[in-house]
Amino acid sequence: MRSEVRPQYVQHLAPISLPEITVAAPQRKDFKQRCAECIVFAVICALYLMLPAGILLAYYYSSTCMHGLPCGGNTGCVWKSQWCDGVQHCPAGQDEAYCVRLHGSSFLLQIFSTQTKQWRTVCSHGWTAQLAQASCREIGYSSTSIISGLQEAHSDDGFLMVKPDPKPNVPIVQQLVLSNYCPNNTVVTLLCTDCTAGVNYSKASTAHQAAIRGWPWQVSLQLAGSHRCGGAVLSPYWIVTAAHCAMMASSPGDWSVYAGIEDPLGTLFNPAHSVRHVVTHEGFDRVTHKNDIALMRLSKPLDFTASSNVRPVCLPNVGLNISLPLSGWTTGYGVLANGDYPYLVEAQVSVMDAVECNSSSVYYGKISTDMLCTKEVQTGQDVCKTDSGGPLVLEMGNLWWLVGDNIWPESCTDLNKPGVYSNVTFFLGWIYHQMKASMKTDLLDTETSRLKA
Ligand SMILES: *[C@@H]1O[C@H](CO)[C@@H](O)[C@H](O)[C@H]1NC(C)=O
Ligand SMILES: *[C@@H]1O[C@H](CO)[C@@H](O)[C@H](O)[C@H]1NC(C)=O
Ligand SMILES: *[C@@H]1O[C@H](CO)[C@@H](O)[C@H](O)[C@H]1NC(C)=O
Ligand SMILES: *[C@@H]1O[C@H](CO)[C@@H](O)[C@H](O)[C@H]1NC(C)=O
Ligand SMILES: *[C@@H]1O[C@H](CO)[C@@H](O)[C@H](O)[C@H]1NC(C)=O
Repeated sequence: MRSEVRPQYVQHLAPISLPEITVAAPQRKDFKQRCAECIVFAVICALYLMLPAGILLAYYYSSTCMHGLPCGGNTGCVWKSQWCDGVQHCPAGQDEAYCVRLHGSSFLLQIFSTQTKQWRTVCSHGWTAQLAQASCREIGYSSTSIISGLQEAHSDDGFLMVKPDPKPNVPIVQQLVLSNYCPNNTVVTLLCTDCTAGVNYSKASTAHQAAIRGWPWQVSLQLAGSHRCGGAVLSPYWIVTAAHCAMMASSPGDWSVYAGIEDPLGTLFNPAHSVRHVVTHEGFDRVTHKNDIALMRLSKPLDFTASSNVRPVCLPNVGLNISLPLSGWTTGYGVLANGDYPYLVEAQVSVMDAVECNSSSVYYGKISTDMLCTKEVQTGQDVCKTDSGGPLVLEMGNLWWLVGDNIWPESCTDLNKPGVYSNVTFFLGWIYHQMKASMKTDLLDTETSRLKA
């Protein structure tokens, strides 16, 4: 192939250069020929190199984003400078979905800085109730009982400071500027729903009947007057439970939610709360119990001021130091071995190593990475037939945090099998995303019904 190409190329060059050649023509020609040979060789080499590089490049461009960030689900890319800039660029708004978060056990507000590509805390200087509300809405809370506090500023990475003239209706991320210090040396903490209500209740370490005031987030989910699953209150509107529970009914309207009760059958004097919609995890697998988590949104908000027996539990913030070995509590409407009717029961449990739980002697490979296993602190506690969806909580810094929702309830015949829960920390992003998405639909619903009226 090359021998065919070369003469043609030389012939083409020759007529142009020949008239100029007077002395040492053969030598020049020799040089020219060699030069042309070099060029041809280089071109061929370049082509050979560029072909695979081009293929690689095309593949790279089609699969990932070179300089930007992927929107997710193959829906394109956006520039890094467009991530969390307050303007939606991705088709489903993924670029603006997760720009505000609460960090650690003190609920430190953190906002993603597009300029520095890092999460920064926010100076309390210039902070307003409106900004607090806007931040909570960004996270996914529509509640109005927001507690904004202060904490001494500690950061080597700098802060964000509120611009002099905060405007309503402007995204929170656009109302802040980078700052190396905070004027009063204080930063903002933010509780979007008050999960701090003191639940001071002494607990014995053996499984026994429990008082609801110790576990005020526990709810009973019922169908046609019978208790089917447990759940936990996250906010005035939201209940978290297991997906396999949520799928027991075909319509949200079939559910009745009871809060603040100890006896799931003695609901006579307790109001039933109706469910407006149910969000089941899209990846839920009935067989493996992967993604066994669901949310229920109530039609009317729970009133936390009406009874001290109804309160939300805290969702586990990012940066919360949850490390093994940890010990927590699980509650549910169950039957004690010596009991015959269901009642609220509690048991102290410790989260166990997933590898051990997954081993052939226990659950032989059925444990996936979104699950966690617990064993009872005192063996043979005789709690059996507790329900699905019930919470696993742990106390840290005087607050109770929801770390799991029960997916494989203990049964009387399998007393020595660990309890299995969905890892709520694993689903934190999903939970906030659903709450936020539903807030938008609710706004639309309200708008539609107002237009109809
Ligand atoms: C900061 O300190 C000044 C004076 O010490 C005070 O007037 C101002 O209210 C403080 N601002 C905040 C946000 O705490
Ligand atoms: C909790 O209860 C104990 C005794 O039951 C009491 O000594 C303690 O002060 C209480 N703590 C709070 C925060 O109420
Ligand atoms: C987290 O907790 C563990 C054990 O309680 C402790 O050793 C570790 O230092 C803590 N880490 C942080 C970052 O606080
Ligand atoms: C449990 O074992 C199965 C099968 O070997 C594996 O696919 C799974 O990832 C393991 N789970 C965990 C949490 O390691
Ligand atoms: C729960 O999920 C979080 C986030 O994915 C992970 O960091 C943590 O280790 C998990 N917990 C357990 C006990 O597996």
